[in-house]
Amino acid sequence: MTSTTTPGSLPRVEQAAGLEFPTGFVWGAATSAYQIEGSPAADGRGRSIWDTFSHTPGRTAGGETGDVAIDHYQRMPHDVRLMSELGLTAYRFSLSWPRVQPTGRGPANSGGLDFYRRLVDELLAAGIEPRPTLYHWDLPQELEDDGGWPVRDVAERFAEYAGIVADALADRVPSWTTLNEPFCAALLGYAAGVHAPGRTEPAAALAAVHHLLLGHGLAVGALRAGGASEVNITVNLYAVTPASDAPADVDAARRVDGLQNRLWLDPVLLGRYPADLVEDLAPLGVLDAVSAEDLAVISTPLDSLGINYYTRHVVSAAGGATGHGDGASPWIGGVPVGMVSRGLPVTSTGWEIDGPGLGEVLRRVHQEYPPLPLYVTENGAAFDDVRDADGRVRDLDRIDFLRGHLAACHEAIASGVPLRGYFVWSLMDNFEWAEGYRKRFGLVFVDYETLERVPKDSAAWYAGVIRNGGPGVVHTLPS
Ligand code: FCB
Repeated sequence: MTSTTTPGSLPRVEQAAGLEFPTGFVWGAATSAYQIEGSPAADGRGRSIWDTFSHTPGRTAGGETGDVAIDHYQRMPHDVRLMSELGLTAYRFSLSWPRVQPTGRGPANSGGLDFYRRLVDELLAAGIEPRPTLYHWDLPQELEDDGGWPVRDVAERFAEYAGIVADALADRVPSWTTLNEPFCAALLGYAAGVHAPGRTEPAAALAAVHHLLLGHGLAVGALRAGGASEVNITVNLYAVTPASDAPADVDAARRVDGLQNRLWLDPVLLGRYPADLVEDLAPLGVLDAVSAEDLAVISTPLDSLGINYYTRHVVSAAGGATGHGDGASPWIGGVPVGMVSRGLPVTSTGWEIDGPGLGEVLRRVHQEYPPLPLYVTENGAAFDDVRDADGRVRDLDRIDFLRGHLAACHEAIASGVPLRGYFVWSLMDNFEWAEGYRKRFGLVFVDYETLERVPKDSAAWYAGVIRNGGPGVVHTLPS
């Protein structure tokens, strides 16, 4: 198959036949509420911990906030048209909890829910499957004021919120994700303090881990009671390799693998926390006191699993961590670890580009845990994109990145991994948390002065991938 045309406003990118993905494979792109919506006070929305954090001096690059973000709240129908132009078969987005429940408790705020009703209407009318996530880090501030995720009650509140949302939408939306990357919510938010709410309290962070997972398990039940038919969680996983065979490096890699990967996969899919981590973290006194009842809720069987993948960690016992998610490393059982660079090409976030690592992660999850349909719910790269004089964004580095990672997905499928879909992070450039607007991850460029959306060459390339059912070799680069 060769595709030579591109619809609408997309630049022209030709690609020859290449890898074929299974029929019915879900081709999507992802975003999250706080990163794109803006309109923080519209229709009765309450405040979230990210409003507070981003407005606290020194917390985000340049003091940037999500107040405007990319104004998706106002421009949603236009953005859905962009998705149609790309030919997405699914769109992963998150609901803002403080739009739905402004204080995190009590009845639904119909103004906020209506926005998501309209979004679902637009998506369904465009033939795009809505795949919502309930929690992408924007906890209602009032729940944080009462202690936040380290307090058990928040898990119950999360289940209540899940029930409200399911009652409103699950008759038309079959597939749901409870949490996005609880690692970041718990450990970057409560231990490293580099994400909201910016606390540096290791024991509280571990309590947050448990309550996020408990909230997930309770929400699975609430979603199903409301009519959801496919429920999962999204975890951010890493390929992890020791920097050498030295026992200290091997042990450091075990700790990083434990905290980044097994701390989430084991309780959710096996019903237990990893014994080595429970031992390492015993001084913090949380994981060793967990009840069998809680673990049973946390391991409520799922219909699928969402995996976000960005890079590999090569771990040494020497301190000085750099890289994605390393903010929590310093407190890992009090033992310093370091991430070693292999000198591979990096994205503008400094993360080494490692497509095969994605295949490794997918195969590992499939082999070491009970088999489940898998989705790559986020994968993508930030580069320093610029608009050329003709207005075009020739982001060939992103095309290369995505093609390399899709090749790893293709190989994983060929080796028997039940991978059902792939979502690019992100549909559009957006507010990249503590990094502000500097890191552009989008298939679509956003001009932050005018909020104009400009599909990058990668958007046209991805549209071709979707039309052809897989990525080919780019043989005509955009002129
Ligand atoms: C993930 C987050 C997403 C975005 C990407 C780059 O950790 O889920 O919101 O920040 O990284």
